[in-house]
Amino acid sequence: MAQSNQVGRRVRIAPSLLSADFGRLADSLVAVNRTADWLHLDVMDGRFVPNITIGPMVVAAVRKTTELPLDVHMMVVEPERYVKAFREAGADSLTVHYEACPHLERVIGQIHEMGALAGVAVNPATPVEALVDIVDELDMVLIMSVNPGFGGQAFWPRAVDKVRRAVRLRGDRERPLIQVDGGITLQTAPLVTSAGADVLVAGTAIFGSPDPGSVIQQMHEG
Ligand code: DX5
Ligand code: ZN
Repeated sequence: MAQSNQVGRRVRIAPSLLSADFGRLADSLVAVNRTADWLHLDVMDGRFVPNITIGPMVVAAVRKTTELPLDVHMMVVEPERYVKAFREAGADSLTVHYEACPHLERVIGQIHEMGALAGVAVNPATPVEALVDIVDELDMVLIMSVNPGFGGQAFWPRAVDKVRRAVRLRGDRERPLIQVDGGITLQTAPLVTSAGADVLVAGTAIFGSPDPGSVIQQMHEG
């Protein structure tokens, strides 16, 4: 469904369900089903981040109502304990945090063994260059453009340079895809797209709008 934007690349838009109406999740999905590329699901454990959100049961329920790829962002400590449950619930990609994984390579291997795409997220204070020795094994690098934990925060402008540095780290390979998450709006989306981002996550800008599909469309057109 994605189309080329002004920079001539195909950018995927992943609405974050965190900002949807949890009492009417199915309606929220209908609103984005035809324009979104992926659906982004934020898993928070109250330990890695202060907030608590959803678990595998909700992912499984969402799986039954959409065919969009489910992109699960795990803001949890010890994610290796939960990746199997989220994969079985229907996750297509699983992203774990660099800061939560002393044995990152092992977790990435675990995700790949289950046949899912594997991503690593870096918080604002973590240099993306920390991934230099594992970048070959990743399907996705997630640059956080807010401190994780809550939707609706202001975009962290240094993320733009970090996206450029992630592009340099990837070199001439096709993967990892570079995803940006936090404070993405119609104003900030072109900044990170121009810097080379491949996947944009947006919660408030999409689900806070009376016409989520149109916001996604506009983000595609960039
Ligand atoms: C924040 C989450 C984001 C969040 C983004 O910790 O990882 O996915 O939903 O929300 P917005 O787009 O409102 O910043
Ligand atoms: Zn997220």
